[in-house]
Amino acid sequence: MHRLEGRRILLGISGGIAAYKSAILVRELHRAGAQVRVVMTRAARAFVAPLTLQTLSGNVVHSELLDPTREAAMGHIELARWADVVLVAPATADFIARLAHGLADDLLSTLCLASSAPLAMAPAMNREMWRHPATQQNVRTLSLRGGYVWGPAEGDQACGEFGPGRMLEPDELLERIAGFWRQGPLSGVRALITAGPTREPIDPVRYISNRSSGKMGYALAAAVRELGATVTLISGPTSLMPPAGVERIEVNTALEMREQVLSRAAVCGLFVAAAAVSDYRAEQLAGHKIKKGVSRWQLALVRNPDILAEVAALPNHPFTVGFAAETHDLERNAEGKRRSKGLDMIAANLVGKGPGGFDADDNAVTLYWEGGKKDLSLRDKPSLAREIAALIAEHYDAKYTAQDPGSPSG
Ligand code: PMT
Repeated sequence: MHRLEGRRILLGISGGIAAYKSAILVRELHRAGAQVRVVMTRAARAFVAPLTLQTLSGNVVHSELLDPTREAAMGHIELARWADVVLVAPATADFIARLAHGLADDLLSTLCLASSAPLAMAPAMNREMWRHPATQQNVRTLSLRGGYVWGPAEGDQACGEFGPGRMLEPDELLERIAGFWRQGPLSGVRALITAGPTREPIDPVRYISNRSSGKMGYALAAAVRELGATVTLISGPTSLMPPAGVERIEVNTALEMREQVLSRAAVCGLFVAAAAVSDYRAEQLAGHKIKKGVSRWQLALVRNPDILAEVAALPNHPFTVGFAAETHDLERNAEGKRRSKGLDMIAANLVGKGPGGFDADDNAVTLYWEGGKKDLSLRDKPSLAREIAALIAEHYDAKYTAQDPGSPSG
């Protein structure tokens, strides 16, 4: 059986050059056994012919809101109810803005408002348009309402520039759609995971950071994903590729990481903080490279907010798992952090001596929760992450699903 057999995907296409990739996505969805109905904005029709999409999907393509013949065949409300998932790919800056403001001035935007199915968007636009505060605000609004924003990727753009704004490739989008039906103990759970170091700038060329490679957090993202969750990874600078089917948001500083985490935490069911977040940042960022001169130089630092503690203190906080990197007194320090921050679980690792910890391929942790603990001995980080994820799933289930079907699955 194909992995998307019988799943009903409503694919919205708005007007951007990446629309040509949507034709490949329709073909791949169809091959995977999905039923696909395509809805195009008027601008999208300038980039790809409806007949192409009709042929590939095996269904008539919808475009007009007020089309009596199409309404007779399948009305727009019926179409909205038909969908198991709505994906808009490409989603242009204009379409994202219209959606964020709740406009319903064409068939596709109306369907997005009328459907109660999960709504995902794959943005595609010029890098400056993507970075514009208005677009960023609109994307945040849609994420906060529970929408999934997949991408964009970074790379060469049709306009000749390089940067973030490319639509994700069709195989990646297919993988993420399939994730909605991946069976596992964390199916239906939205997970947010932090990974890697943060970089706190001092001047244009210097920063404070640490030796975190991101390997532990990335392995956890893949493991939690394997258990069926929909995963967003908020990552500091690393050289790693995001695991398949995981949405990655790249940040530099602790404040950027905090902003990305807090804009999503309220709609997530699980938060795992594996990042090594800098506790301090420079009080002042020098505009120019600081010249050497005096023999003794003091740098004033200020505390960064504790992202993990803030998430755990949210009124409807997700199931929250922290990490503790300790050089001594592992149990006392880790349990202290778990209790003071109000965490469900904490994974404690010894760092600074012996194998494991920062920048190593292997690691060992002890997991603590209220009234229990488990030692997970030294092994490669992907295997360790699978063990940790399985224990998280067990405790998540015990806390919510087993007693209260209304869990915060996000
Ligand atoms: O990335 P690798 O090279 O694979 O290394 C993995 C690791 C050693 C970085 C990882 O296993 C680990 O221990 N991550 C947490 C490191 C850390 O910063 O620990 P901490 O004890 O200082 O912080 C406690 C917890 O609070 C952590 O979950 C941290 O993400 C979180 N925190 C800390 C400070 C802050 N301002 N905000 C936070 O959210």
